[in-house]
Amino acid sequence: MSEFQRIALSAFPPAERPALTAQNVDWRESQPFAGAKLLIATPVFFNTLVTHAVLQSAGAELTIGVSADLPRDSQALEVIAKAGIDIVEPTSIARRGYDVVVDCAAQFRNTSARYGYVELTRSGASHYASARQPVVLVDASPIKRIETSLGTGDGFIRGLAHYGHTDLTGKVIAVFGGGKVGQGIAISCHRRGAEVLIIDDPNAVTLPPNVALVDRDDSTEVSHQIERAWCIVTATGEPAALDPWAQTLTVSNPLLANMGVADEFGARVPAERVLNRKAPLNFVLDEPTRLRYLDPVLALVNASALHVLRGEAKPGMHPPPAEIEAQILSLLSDTKLGQELASTPDLTT
Ligand SMILES: NC(=O)c1ccc[n+]([C@@H]2O[C@H](COP(=O)([O-])OP(=O)(O)OC[C@H]3O[C@@H](n4cnc5c(N)ncnc54)[C@H](O)[C@@H]3O)[C@@H](O)[C@H]2O)c1
Repeated sequence: MSEFQRIALSAFPPAERPALTAQNVDWRESQPFAGAKLLIATPVFFNTLVTHAVLQSAGAELTIGVSADLPRDSQALEVIAKAGIDIVEPTSIARRGYDVVVDCAAQFRNTSARYGYVELTRSGASHYASARQPVVLVDASPIKRIETSLGTGDGFIRGLAHYGHTDLTGKVIAVFGGGKVGQGIAISCHRRGAEVLIIDDPNAVTLPPNVALVDRDDSTEVSHQIERAWCIVTATGEPAALDPWAQTLTVSNPLLANMGVADEFGARVPAERVLNRKAPLNFVLDEPTRLRYLDPVLALVNASALHVLRGEAKPGMHPPPAEIEAQILSLLSDTKLGQELASTPDLTT
């Protein structure tokens, strides 16, 4: 085991990463990536170093891709650099080729990949939609919801706690945007005793149990809920989505938190009015999303990369094969996460 693998694997107990542990045990013997050149451009944090360690121990020759548009932890990046692993940006590698590119938000779509690509996010999908090579879109998988819903909901709760807000009992929390992230926040807050409502287009949302819905176009009702809320959270994916409410938000009392990548409150709401100065609330934490919730999707990314490397993936963009997902989900049944999934049955079906 290299020093890099020792550092990455010893930082998180196997119980926090059951799917990656199973891959590691299997692949360090079978070496399925032996000699394969992989470019991995998924966000770099201390907990994601585990996935790099698993791929390296499976024989892969790794290069890590970073981009100004992707979040990263500079100290985690230092560990990678110290291990002698190449770190590149989208502009620095136009001429280099890899066997498989594991991309995020299509930052490395112009980098050539001999066998194909794995893309982590929906925002990258439009760039790969007309690809002729194989592209496995991990965002289109039920397993990704474990990260975006449960993991982000947990990160939101820990983000609030970072600012001293630990008791949510009876507090009114209004979530703008009831997609994957908004639903996860709503579920987590409801489990901690909050009164939760989602503000969205009623036709766009599958409402979690015990969560109320407010039509985003009903401005009288939205204003009323803004005035009575203890906390307002944004998870719409739209920059300045709350601009129509800027005046009310600036003079009213509720806590404001953004969980989207963009500034969803808009320029008219001052940064100091919003927790973490408008950056996603959970990004104030050393571990924005706990490894427990990332483990299945990181294992799915690795398995999808192997699927592409072996030439098994069909041309064009498509979700990961259902049997790979089922195999990873089967590893979770006796874990803490497995218990949480069992009490949130619609999440991965
Ligand atoms: N903080 C994190 O760790 C983290 C993790 C994953 C994703 N994200 C980000 O969270 C955001 C949401 O992601 P998602 O996957 O839930 O998106 P999604 O597309 O699944 O859901 C977005 C929802 O917002 C609604 N919406 C759009 N505009 C709205 C408006 N003006 N008012 C009310 N509702 C509106 C849509 O109808 C949709 O239901 C994105 O910016 C994403 O990049 C953050």
